[in-house]
Amino acid sequence: MIEHIYMSQHPLIAAQLRQAMRGVASTVTLITSIAPDGHGHVMIASSFASVSLEPPTVLVCIGQQTRIHGPLLASRRFCINVLRAEQEVLAVHCRSATGTDRFDHEAWRFDEVNGLPYLQGAQASLFCELIEHHAVGTHSVMLASVERVLTSAYADPLVYLDGRFRAIDPTR
Ligand SMILES: Cc1cc2nc3c(=O)[nH]c(=O)nc-3n(C[C@H](O)[C@H](O)[C@H](O)COP(=O)(O)O)c2cc1C
Repeated sequence: MIEHIYMSQHPLIAAQLRQAMRGVASTVTLITSIAPDGHGHVMIASSFASVSLEPPTVLVCIGQQTRIHGPLLASRRFCINVLRAEQEVLAVHCRSATGTDRFDHEAWRFDEVNGLPYLQGAQASLFCELIEHHAVGTHSVMLASVERVLTSAYADPLVYLDGRFRAIDPTR
């Protein structure tokens, strides 16, 4: 009975959750990984969160149907590039392009140590190693150790709120 109520309520709650999440500001990242054949993948993700500093651990939720999901699980390595507000053009491009066309920008570099694509000039780039993953509904929660961090001195992140990319007003 409880399950029945839950199931019948589910679409409504999902719609309400979607609406609620429109009011939750999240920082925009571009997550990259490489397939075993060396092909790079990149995807916009805002589900990134810090889990622990000791040891340095983060999480990100990746849709199981996304192109990056398989390569990330196979290689177990990925890079989280936190976008600065002035890098909105990269997020817009990534949203409209597909496949390797998403790397069509001069700011992309390839890490000399592990070959991972990263964004030069990002607010931060976190090089991660997958520890474990858990399938939850349509997504996989990826828990990863942070192996290396490139970071910029000032914080001016690109934010996603109410279906739009935005900058934070630094005077407030
Ligand atoms: C602002 C923003 C944040 C997003 N965050 C995530 C996320 O955290 N996880 C996820 O799986 N998809 C997220 N998406 C959706 C993916 O970027 C989108 O489905 C993408 O097209 C998947 O990549 P693919 O087309 O290569 O499969 C987000 C999209 C936008 C615009």
